Amino acid sequence: MEHFLNAMPKAELHLHIEGTLEPELMFKLAERNGIELPYSSVDQLRAAYDFGNLQDFLDPYYQGAEVLQTEQDFYDLTWAYIERCHEQNVIHIEPFFDPQTHTDRGIPFATVINGISRALEDAKTRYGISSGLIMCFLRHLSEEQAFDTLQQALPYLDRIIGIGLDSSEQGHPPTKFQRVFAKARAMGLLLVAHAGEEGPAQNVIDSLDLLHVDRIDHGVRAADDPALMRRLAEEKIALTVCPLSNTRLRVFSDMREHNILQMLAVGVKVTVNSDDPAYFGGYMTENFLALYHALNLSKEQALELTRNSFEYSFASRERKDEMLVLLNRFAA
Ligand code: ADE
Ligand code: ZN
Repeated sequence: MEHFLNAMPKAELHLHIEGTLEPELMFKLAERNGIELPYSSVDQLRAAYDFGNLQDFLDPYYQGAEVLQTEQDFYDLTWAYIERCHEQNVIHIEPFFDPQTHTDRGIPFATVINGISRALEDAKTRYGISSGLIMCFLRHLSEEQAFDTLQQALPYLDRIIGIGLDSSEQGHPPTKFQRVFAKARAMGLLLVAHAGEEGPAQNVIDSLDLLHVDRIDHGVRAADDPALMRRLAEEKIALTVCPLSNTRLRVFSDMREHNILQMLAVGVKVTVNSDDPAYFGGYMTENFLALYHALNLSKEQALELTRNSFEYSFASRERKDEMLVLLNRFAA
């Protein structure tokens, strides 16, 4: 099964590029940029990754991102993730980036996006990995700041397929960002939002009805509302679920309690993703493996989850069909 899950062609639709910063690279970039980290070693840093909830994770996560300073740093970060994708047969990716984490500490928007997008271009030419970059707004900041970020993105819209909404869900509901999402939608950008990760099912409903998102990130708390579950299935609204993230952030106390396979069984278009793999103990293959060990994930279920990732990706119809053909050939 381990070989099967690693060899299976996959897509990743929920991945924060800042969340791929492995402790080793964090130390390397800190040294390169003359930054003092509040940890004495990689082991000590890894040992600190014991989170009680989302906010517990977000604080050191934003602090860790401060080692990212130059375009080359953003390139190296993204390229290290792409190498993992290549090793794990991930053939299509839609990474998130959080410009505000960087621009708010004086790093130019151009530095961030140029480094990331150059690595994504190299991923295509060297490994055939296709991608679409999604810019997220930090929901703990104001809508005005989100508008400002959208403005800064204007010269780079050819490199951004959509916008998302991440950071602290509690206290920052989707309603806060209705106007900026309407503007992005009018500009032709695709829309996603984190909802129903720690927050209630109502945040999923509001993201659909008020933000008009094309996909929901996480969404596992939708299971609290049977009518919403029926709607998600009927309207074929995909959820980008992140199993290891959910157990590391104690959304579920144990992987055996995760509801992804129950949602799959009732027809909700769920997908498997890694969220912040450097912090949560694994990339795509490890997330599938965790489901296999805890929930006895079958090959058929793994293939169905992956079919959902290809079908509900933001790739062109042509690329989706190409990926589905590859998956069918792999399954045969
Ligand atoms: N930013 C990075 N990872 C996140 C998560 N799991 N939820 C909300 N914001 C995030
Ligand atoms: Zn996320």
